Amino acid sequence: MLKASVLIIVGLLGAGTALAEEGEIRLLESGADIKSAESLQRGARNFMNYCSGCHSLKYLRYSRLAADLKIPESEVVKNLIFTGAKPFDEISTAMPADATDWFGKQPPDLTLMARERGVDYIYSYLKSFYVDKTRPFGVNNLYLAGTAMPHVLSSLQGLQKPVYKNEKDAHGSAKMVLVGVEAMTPGAMKPEEYDQFIRDTANFLDYAAEPIKATRQSMGIFVMLFLLVFFVFAYLLKKEYWKDVH
Ligand code: HEC
Repeated sequence: MLKASVLIIVGLLGAGTALAEEGEIRLLESGADIKSAESLQRGARNFMNYCSGCHSLKYLRYSRLAADLKIPESEVVKNLIFTGAKPFDEISTAMPADATDWFGKQPPDLTLMARERGVDYIYSYLKSFYVDKTRPFGVNNLYLAGTAMPHVLSSLQGLQKPVYKNEKDAHGSAKMVLVGVEAMTPGAMKPEEYDQFIRDTANFLDYAAEPIKATRQSMGIFVMLFLLVFFVFAYLLKKEYWKDVH
C-alpha cells in the first residue's frame, strides 16, 4: 500500500515537471510597481488611447480612477473620456456588440484580467506578438496561440518574428517547437521605451483589478507591527496571571 502511494506521488511529480518542460514558455517579469502613481497615470493614458476602443473596464468608474490616481476630474473628462461618458459612469468601450463578427471573438472586459492571469502575463502577452501570415490579422502570440487580438501596438514596438528550435519528440522524429520571438523591424519606440509603455499599461490593469491593492499592502505592514507590539503585552499579561500558579 505504502509502496503504491509513493509510486503514485513520484509519478505525479514526474508528470508535473514534464508538463512544465514541454511547450510551457515562462512568463516575463513585468517589474510593475503598483505604488507608483506616475506609472499608473501613464498606464491609464495608454489604456484609454490604445485599448479602450475594444476593451471595457466595466467595474471601474472614471471618478474612482480620477480620485485614486490623483488626476483632476476635469483632466479625465478632457483627456481620457472618448465615449461621451460622464465621470460617474463605468469605463465602457466604443466597440459595438457585433465585434465578434470582426474578430471571431468579443474582446473581453479587462477589469479583472490581472487577477485572472496576473500582471506578468499581461506584460508578456503585450510583448510577444509575432508575424504569422496564416492568421487573419497577420500576427500570432507566444502566450496565447491563435489569439484573435490584432497587434495594436505594432507601430510602437515594430514587428517580431518567431524563433523555432528543432526538437526530437518521444518517437525520435524531429519537430519544430516555438521557443521565443525576436525583433524583425523597429517601431517608433526603442525597446526599453516600449517595455516601459507596456509595464505601465499592465500596472494600470493591476490597479483596475483591485483599486485598493497598494493601500492593502501598506496596511498589512502596520497590522504586522501592531501584532508584534501586542504580542509583547499579551505575553507580559500572561506571565502576570500565571505567576501565582507556578
Ligand atoms: C482592435 C481591438 C483590440 C484592441 C484595440 C485591443 N485588444 Fe486586447 N483583445 C482583443 C480581442 C479580440 C481579444 C480576444 C483574444 C482571444 O481571446 O483570442 C483580446 C484579448 C486581450 C487580452 C486577454 C488575453 C487572454 O489571455 O485571454 C488582454 C490581456 C488584452 N486583450 C489586452 C489589451 C491591451 C492592454 C490593449 C491595449 C494596449 C488591447 N488589448 C487592445 C482586441 C483588442
